[in-house]
Amino acid sequence: MLELAGIRKNFGAIEILRGVDLTLRPGEIHALLGENGAGKSTLMKILCGILQPSEGTIRLDGAERRFANYDEAIAAGVGVVFQEFSLIPWLNAIENIFLAREKTNRLGLLDRRAMRARAAELMRKLSVEIDLDLPVNRLSVAEQQFVEIAKALALDARFLVLDEPTATLTPAEVEHLFKVMRELRRQGVAIVFISHHLEEIFEICDRITILRDGAFIATCAVSDVDNDRLVEMMVGRRLDQSFPPKPPAQTRPPVLQVEELQLRRGGPVSRFELRQGEILGFAGLVGSGRTETVLAMLGALPAARCKMRLDGVEKRFAGPDEGLMHGIGLLPESRKEQGLITSFSILQNISLNNYGRYRRAHWFIDLKKERAATEAAMAQVRVKASGPMARVDTLSGGNQQKVVIARWLNHDMRVLIFDEPTRGIDVGAKTEIYALMREYTAAGHSIIMISSELPEMVGMSDRVCVFRSGGIVATVEGERITSEEIMTLATTGRVEHVA
Ligand SMILES: Nc1ncnc2c1ncn2[C@@H]1O[C@H](COP(=O)(O)OP(=O)(O)OP(=O)(O)O)[C@@H](O)[C@H]1O
Ligand SMILES: [Mg+2]
Repeated sequence: MLELAGIRKNFGAIEILRGVDLTLRPGEIHALLGENGAGKSTLMKILCGILQPSEGTIRLDGAERRFANYDEAIAAGVGVVFQEFSLIPWLNAIENIFLAREKTNRLGLLDRRAMRARAAELMRKLSVEIDLDLPVNRLSVAEQQFVEIAKALALDARFLVLDEPTATLTPAEVEHLFKVMRELRRQGVAIVFISHHLEEIFEICDRITILRDGAFIATCAVSDVDNDRLVEMMVGRRLDQSFPPKPPAQTRPPVLQVEELQLRRGGPVSRFELRQGEILGFAGLVGSGRTETVLAMLGALPAARCKMRLDGVEKRFAGPDEGLMHGIGLLPESRKEQGLITSFSILQNISLNNYGRYRRAHWFIDLKKERAATEAAMAQVRVKASGPMARVDTLSGGNQQKVVIARWLNHDMRVLIFDEPTRGIDVGAKTEIYALMREYTAAGHSIIMISSELPEMVGMSDRVCVFRSGGIVATVEGERITSEEIMTLATTGRVEHVA
């Protein structure tokens, strides 16, 4: 049993954790819940010796322990899969799994055969088949995730922390992960599971600990709470989780008309238009071509064919920069590519490319105005930070994502393309972001929203293009926008193939 009691943590003058308790019993899956910036990842870093608590105790099987660093925690049986992956991209799975704890044989030489055998055994245990010789950056995100887990298991972890493992996985991959977690639980491993998807908590967890603003709120059994109660404990108030009302359907002028878009020769040809003031959803399974389609449209990916019009005029973009010049902004799905400069402040990141607005004379930037605008933008999406000057790399994962969104909503774009906008975002902030997206379109801008979350797709889209096998199979609107309809089209829709 691992017990954290009265854990406090300060960064400078700010108290991030304010007396948190957490007990992990063998053979349980324990959810750690809280809004973005509540302190979940920080608490886990303390658990594994990466950070030292300012106050509080850690007990392992009744004896007080202090982990001076991650290695000491590992030796005590704690393994962590971090929110930001820690694999070395150019090394293969075996090298990553045994990094810094390579097996040696009697002669003191690297025992490659033993490491390969052990890695293969772990992969079998996780029921994943991957090429152990490939550099891990050539693996899918899910595969990398399993390499991370194998790395923790290679150390015979009795306590395993999974910090938002499902944020980047497809539903099928999540199911696989849950199977593995259940098996580990059966073997007596205690797992801490962090996720912003409450339905996952109800599916897989036994107990829940809730943090709010660094304070310990409660630990309870999953069977003792329901969705609304959980949200209330996390957010501190009742939350209206409904979507903002959709404007009545009306004929709006098209902004972008994609007349022919074929990703690969022999593949399906997509056709769609984006109208002024609408949210156009791109639905489909992961890998169905949604992201590729927008990248091809912007000239960031080569396409077999691409014919489109912007405001009725035929147009071809040479890359996202050119799209930007025409007022089309893209928020990519991967956080690392979202163009945040993490060693810069929030203010610098939000006003990047936005300086025109705050320029008074030729070379003066109106600092006061810039700061006020940044503060307003931060408040809009509820970024939790010490202020506009906080460095982005000191923000929690979800808050970094909010900075990206704030930044784009403050650009004067005609079209914004959001790829999985609310990934890693907590329930409260999601609601705010949905409201902002509606305001944005009400002001005449247009949004293309790629999302794998069906409720979000159904609740937010004015029209939905459903993708399958690399192209759009159908566009639905109004009453026809339902989860069933979208899922049916996404899994069985027919595609016309054009050579
Ligand atoms: N090195 C640091 N310096 C200053 N503040 C920090 C530092 N590291 C974390 N923080 C702050 O601690 C708070 C808690 O962050 P943490 O990453 O633990 O949140 P979280 O609950 O994991 O959120 P998320 O759901 O977004 O991942 C945040 O407000 C963050 O800005
Ligand atoms: Mg976190």
